[in-house]
Amino acid sequence: MQIVHNLADLHRALKPAALRAFVPTMGNLHQGHLELMQMARQEVDKRTEKGGMTVASIFVNRLQFGPNEDFDTYPRTFENDCALLEANGCDVVFAPSEKDLYPEPQVFKVHPPAELADILEGAFRPGFFVGVSTVVHKLFNIVQPDLAVFGKKDYQQLMVIRRMVQQMALPIEIIGGETRRAEDGLALSSRNGYLSAEERAEAVQLSIALKGLAAAARAGNVAGQLDVAAAEAAAMEALRQRGWAPDYITLRRQHDLSPVSGPSAEPLVVLGAAKLGKTRLIDNLEV
Ligand code: PAF
Repeated sequence: MQIVHNLADLHRALKPAALRAFVPTMGNLHQGHLELMQMARQEVDKRTEKGGMTVASIFVNRLQFGPNEDFDTYPRTFENDCALLEANGCDVVFAPSEKDLYPEPQVFKVHPPAELADILEGAFRPGFFVGVSTVVHKLFNIVQPDLAVFGKKDYQQLMVIRRMVQQMALPIEIIGGETRRAEDGLALSSRNGYLSAEERAEAVQLSIALKGLAAAARAGNVAGQLDVAAAEAAAMEALRQRGWAPDYITLRRQHDLSPVSGPSAEPLVVLGAAKLGKTRLIDNLEV
């Protein structure tokens, strides 16, 4: 596995590749990321006899963090990340410095549409999806992948990227990887490391709240009667009672994340974000 830091070295490393599969990350990797890496490897091996390459990027992207968020304290575990990537089928790690990726202030930015990017995460983290779309678009231009793998854990992010690729006619296939969960059901996340032992034991309650809302949606769809607002409010209140501060627990259409108000035959997803102590967790479940 090669580790490169600047664009010229990356282009040299990737030159011989007949096919490129890309996994963008911010490092501090866990099993969920490694499964995305394995998917990238499998896709390359399936599609090319040899000569295909997998690339992972490790870059903590300042543009997607708000002023009061955890950019400075976001865990940086570069050496361990590289060892894990190598053991999981990565050929090239691209780990640019801020100067390599943003040699001058990034004044050209990608602004995703408000109806997709200013809701849910975007409503609570203003500018987040501008930061994500800008860095992902830039990384796509640099790596020039044929396919890229993103986790469904960041469901809205995956939708924003898919939309960007489609609208900008980027010749990249986007593959969504399933969320990896701990044994108790907590979705794996780099931010789980911020939780105290007591909070870690409590953290699974977010996925339990989502399961409850998903079950209410399924039952309501079968019965032909579903008060979505009441079911969402009940799920939020259950978390509040346990000491959480929920931002949203909501039932949406998978297709565009628009709200539903009653029974629906369309594919749905429940999404949630809530603070436990100082840690903000997100999760989702397709219904
Ligand atoms: O999901 C992440 O880790 C980041 O948002 C991404 C896609 C690497 C962009 O910085």
